[in-house]
Amino acid sequence: MSTQALDDRSLAVLGAGRLGETLIRGLLDAGALQAGRVTVTAGHPERVAKLSSDLGVRGSASNLEATIGADLVLLAVKPQQVASVLAEIGGELKPSQILISVAASVSTAFIEKHLEQAVPVIRAMPNTPVLLKKGMTAVSPGTHARFNHLEIARSIFLSVGRTVTLDEKHMDAVTGLSASGPAYIYIVIEALAEAGVKVGLPRDVATQLAAQTVLGSGAMVLETGEHPAKLKDLVTTPAGCTIDGILELEDGGLRVTLIKAVVRATQRARELLES
Ligand SMILES: NC(=O)c1ccc[n+]([C@@H]2O[C@H](COP(=O)([O-])OP(=O)(O)OC[C@H]3O[C@@H](n4cnc5c(N)ncnc54)[C@H](OP(=O)(O)O)[C@@H]3O)[C@@H](O)[C@H]2O)c1
Repeated sequence: MSTQALDDRSLAVLGAGRLGETLIRGLLDAGALQAGRVTVTAGHPERVAKLSSDLGVRGSASNLEATIGADLVLLAVKPQQVASVLAEIGGELKPSQILISVAASVSTAFIEKHLEQAVPVIRAMPNTPVLLKKGMTAVSPGTHARFNHLEIARSIFLSVGRTVTLDEKHMDAVTGLSASGPAYIYIVIEALAEAGVKVGLPRDVATQLAAQTVLGSGAMVLETGEHPAKLKDLVTTPAGCTIDGILELEDGGLRVTLIKAVVRATQRARELLES
């Protein structure tokens, strides 16, 4: 599946904030869409004007106007704003269009309730490394979304990283793991860098060593397809240094703490819409 799947489709990004802008940049850089085929909206007219001048996209003051005639509609407002935007556009969206929502914790069933027709809806959960085209996005189809709709939606996120298709019941877990995950890993990197400073390394060098180690280790898991435990065993020489380090990690409960972090963030994702 390549980003070519978008062909000459038009895209409306409703709520082009940080994530919306990043996705537009990824699509334009990948040559998957032409700037002239993208329309953006935002809460403030200045935001729309800035995006138009920075990216060459079209701006609109109205979510409804941007939606009419767009092949793909990307809903990228905050979860609490989803209902009011759907109230504006829900009567106009047609089954020939595709509505893709990236709003955390907003279900496709909730979205579909606000639509008059049988519109294909896709829920997507990306993470911030989409900024560097190293994102991880999970996508789930709603009631009326078929394979081809899902592939078109996936092609948006493939322009900025990897994708996986999942049943929607897993989306809060995705939020707790890969969407919140960069924050956990930054803490790991910060702690490793701090440790490097403790054992005498300059801070910038320690940070670089830590970050590249995380990047390389992730790539090893993805590219070799090996179980992480096997890769860990390969680094762990009998009576060597690494096993002493691992014993400290186990003693400190790193493994259980990370599991608890994901479980707690998953629970919070379920509550988000009500808060
Ligand atoms: N950031 C992430 O890593 C990430 C990851 C996964 C999912 N998400 C989801 O993506 C969504 C956006 O997150 P974000 O970080 O990009 O937030 P954000 O930067 O605050 O973007 C939200 C945008 O919505 C605009 N907006 C507000 N009210 C609007 C309305 N009535 N009509 C049209 N646009 C409106 C805002 O305009 P102004 O700028 O003019 O105020 C802003 O540009 C959220 O639902 C979040 O759950 C984010």
